Amino acid sequence: MASTNAATQQTVNTIADHQFYKDVIAGLASTPKHLDSKYFYDAHGDKLFQELMNCEEYYPTNCEMEIFTSQTAELCKAIIAGGDAFDMIELGAGDATKSTQLLKYLIDNKAEFTYLPIDISENVISYLNITLPVTLPGIKITGLNGEYFDMLRKAASISNKRKVVMFLGSNIGNMPVDVAQGFCRELHNNLSKGDMVLIGVDLKKNPKTVLAAYNDKEGITKRFNINLLERINRELGGDFNTTQFDHYATYNPETGACKSYLISLADQRVKIGSETISFQKDEYIDMEISQKYTAGQVDVMAAGAGFKPLNQFFDSKKWFVDAIWIAA
Ligand code: AVJ
Repeated sequence: MASTNAATQQTVNTIADHQFYKDVIAGLASTPKHLDSKYFYDAHGDKLFQELMNCEEYYPTNCEMEIFTSQTAELCKAIIAGGDAFDMIELGAGDATKSTQLLKYLIDNKAEFTYLPIDISENVISYLNITLPVTLPGIKITGLNGEYFDMLRKAASISNKRKVVMFLGSNIGNMPVDVAQGFCRELHNNLSKGDMVLIGVDLKKNPKTVLAAYNDKEGITKRFNINLLERINRELGGDFNTTQFDHYATYNPETGACKSYLISLADQRVKIGSETISFQKDEYIDMEISQKYTAGQVDVMAAGAGFKPLNQFFDSKKWFVDAIWIAA
């Protein structure tokens, strides 16, 4: 039936035009092969990340939560001291568990602000728009669904209040150092003098502690990585046999780079739509970087992007830092 063919053709075109498909094919056609870890977070990936946050070895979430619960007043006072009414923006808000600590304190202390969570996931934004007014009565919230910098520009266009931008969870670590530096530069370019950034960064520490967090005994990190191959199968018509890939994590204490790879356990071919990708036995796919910094390097990154480092808040083990920067 002509209409069915047209519909099928339409579907194929849509997948091939899709940024996810383009990025996957380009990454797997490269030498060395790589995939972008931002694609880990489909509904399955979100669940696996939740599991990771609850597992024994994965410490960053607990450390940052300790900072937010034990130093709420200090953090909020620094934010309030930056000026009067403000927009509290969160890049990659997720379920906003950590930021809720601050939002609650700000509301209880009659700070005048609007919360603008930004997330690439439409689900996340509609969830926050519905649930936060219930958990935080009196909150003014405007969820923005889209890419970080597009939505930052949108936020600037809908209000000229000063901005406080939260970028938590060491999400900055998922960029190599030079890319992270460029990201902070671009962030600065989208802000005005006096605007603030509250950024969460995982710190260099005992290499065994870092490695264990990305190589957990239960194998959740492995499933988290393998899920991207499964997502390619689900959404792009791939035929990965995921039993033929193993997870390998490394941490280099000198550079602070924690990296995850998937290793092909055999010579094999994988079809993705109309493309065929060949793997040699022991060939790797570069999956993710989780860069670690020293507290000093965090200050250097701020200054390099045009910010003045104002304050640093640590957990009791000094494994994680939340830094406040001011746009100069
Ligand atoms: C998304 C940055 C919070 O790199 O630590 C967890 C993602 N990867 N385990 C990180 C992740 C493997 C995580 N962040």
